[in-house]
Amino acid sequence: MNSMEVTMWMLNSTALSMSSSRSYERLHEIEKDLAIVIPVKTKRLRLLEGVLCGIPHACLPIILSNSKNDPIDRFRMEQSMVDTFCRYAKKKYIIAHQRSPEIARMFREGGYPHLLDGDGLVRNGKAEGMLAGIALANMAGKKYVGFIDSDNYFPGAVFEYVRIFSAGLSQGKTPYSMVRIQWHSKPKIVDTELFFAKWGRVSRITNQFLNLFLSHFTGYETEVLRTGNAGEHALSMPLALALDYSTGFSVETYHFVSLMEKFGGALPAPFPEIMKSGVEIFQMESRNPHLHEVTKGGDHINEMIEYSLSVLWHPTICPASLKKDIATELQQLKIIRKNEEPVKLRQYPVLAGIDFEAAARTIDWPLYGNFVPA
Ligand code: GDD
Repeated sequence: MNSMEVTMWMLNSTALSMSSSRSYERLHEIEKDLAIVIPVKTKRLRLLEGVLCGIPHACLPIILSNSKNDPIDRFRMEQSMVDTFCRYAKKKYIIAHQRSPEIARMFREGGYPHLLDGDGLVRNGKAEGMLAGIALANMAGKKYVGFIDSDNYFPGAVFEYVRIFSAGLSQGKTPYSMVRIQWHSKPKIVDTELFFAKWGRVSRITNQFLNLFLSHFTGYETEVLRTGNAGEHALSMPLALALDYSTGFSVETYHFVSLMEKFGGALPAPFPEIMKSGVEIFQMESRNPHLHEVTKGGDHINEMIEYSLSVLWHPTICPASLKKDIATELQQLKIIRKNEEPVKLRQYPVLAGIDFEAAARTIDWPLYGNFVPA
């Protein structure tokens, strides 16, 4: 990592105390240029509405849905709720279905077929929805893009996440910055009592192996990485367009692999100007507890662990000793068998490869809500 300037900020502060050192005007400036992408797949409407409520007025919400439209058209219900909310709140918004022919056409005409499946539609998956959100945010003229899951119970926590995004992004000294949220706690009920857990099973394992990955390049053992699975994160647009991405729930862990490969000096730099300028990563802790809908069981947890570790296992820059440790961990968890390799996940090249002018020509903005680009 000799030539990479990765600045890790471990801040134990709330967004509000951050904003005492960043002027309200500065945060507002960032938020005017910030799109918040909300990926949603068949979650309760009331939860999505709460998330919308928490987003500061200046930000542009972009809802990327992969919700069912059969037997009930959940996407139409989402559209209707979002439209009503935003009409009363006098708020601009964009909403699109990830599997719609229009979104597929945008990528096809933009010369980016990688996201499309055999039916010519954008593939299923959270990352795939996020990538469609980044493309729309860029065409909407936004300079920053953040991500918040649709199933957060507390609008106040959502508000705090966005304030943390703007507080972090406002400190960027280069055009290439990322803010990743570390939750203060994730409450659970244990023996009828509330327990404010700090780490989940997935994040504990992902962070442990990510830190080993980083230690290999620096030669120093570290525990600096704490946000390997940060679903809530934000990026400056130039960085969002310059990273490679990995499918589904592996997307957040893979950010670090892409950063190392492209700007860390581990491989020849495809964007030397970014490497020279440096990339900043702000890991910032929120103060609100993170409470979200839990509808999936152990299989989902195991899949998330496998996805997070497999994106570390496969790259050529992963040292043999770490590969061995990852395989042992996955075997102990009975996720893979002895001598079996972790699953190889689909990856997507940089979105900077999209011809955005051609893609924008396909967009009929009124179809996506009430936003009209300047
Ligand atoms: N557009 C779209 N397409 N959205 C999706 C899809 C999809 O195929 N699959 C899931 N989503 C949405 C969900 O509706 C939710 O808003 C968000 O993506 C996260 O999905 P969950 O299924 O709720 O994920 P999780 O709670 O297990 O994991 C989340 O937190 C992890 C950190 O603990 C995700 O954000 C992970 O990526 C993150 O690592």
